[in-house]
Amino acid sequence: MTENDIVEASFLASAQEVSSLPPPIGIEIAFAGRSNVGKSSLLNRLMARRSLVRTSSTPGCTRAINFFEARARDGMRLTLVDLPGYGYAARSRQEKLVWAKLIEHYLLERPTLAAVVVLVDIRRGLEKDDLDLLELLSEQGPRSRPPTPVLVATKLDRVPRAQQAAAVQGLAKSTRKVIGFSTEMPETTNEVWRVLRHAIR
Ligand code: GTP
Ligand code: MG
Repeated sequence: MTENDIVEASFLASAQEVSSLPPPIGIEIAFAGRSNVGKSSLLNRLMARRSLVRTSSTPGCTRAINFFEARARDGMRLTLVDLPGYGYAARSRQEKLVWAKLIEHYLLERPTLAAVVVLVDIRRGLEKDDLDLLELLSEQGPRSRPPTPVLVATKLDRVPRAQQAAAVQGLAKSTRKVIGFSTEMPETTNEVWRVLRHAIR
């Protein structure tokens, strides 16, 4: 057992517009990345819950900003935030604009946002949308300080074991650290927790 063991996790709120965001209380960590990259799956692993967060093999599953509350064994309380994925083509232009505005507002103005996990499929690497997101995160915005970006490479199990370390290394541009993750490799969940705890200190 580790201090990261989650003893309690529950759904808190869902927002499709700025006016329905829950009040900013406590520490938040948001999860962002392309549709289907594995955001909701990672959240389920981090909260040690099989299906608290809905996942799907069809991209575009998460269609609102969903807030979850988690409490760790050592008493630490966190709000984990599942963002809708970007790059999902089947959405209407209008729908995309509304979502982009909501997500941008959230990322730039949320005072309680301490870290943003940017998920990238290990087989695709960093794409333009991901770089745009990292750029957005570094903008000052009205919040007091930008959230710490944390880069996670997902679906590590899809790369042959012997090539996994090199693939994760290859993703790390210059000084940026990348954590390899797979739902099929339980030890990687602990590593993500370890880095997240460090990021929100
Ligand atoms: P949206 O909500 O559409 O933005 O997608 P998402 O990023 O939340 O992805 P989700 O967690 O729903 O996972 C998408 C698909 O990838 C599902 O079929 C998952 O089972 C699968 N998946 C997620 N993580 C992994 C992983 O580490 N390994 C493998 N092999 N499949 C994974
Ligand atoms: Mg999702």
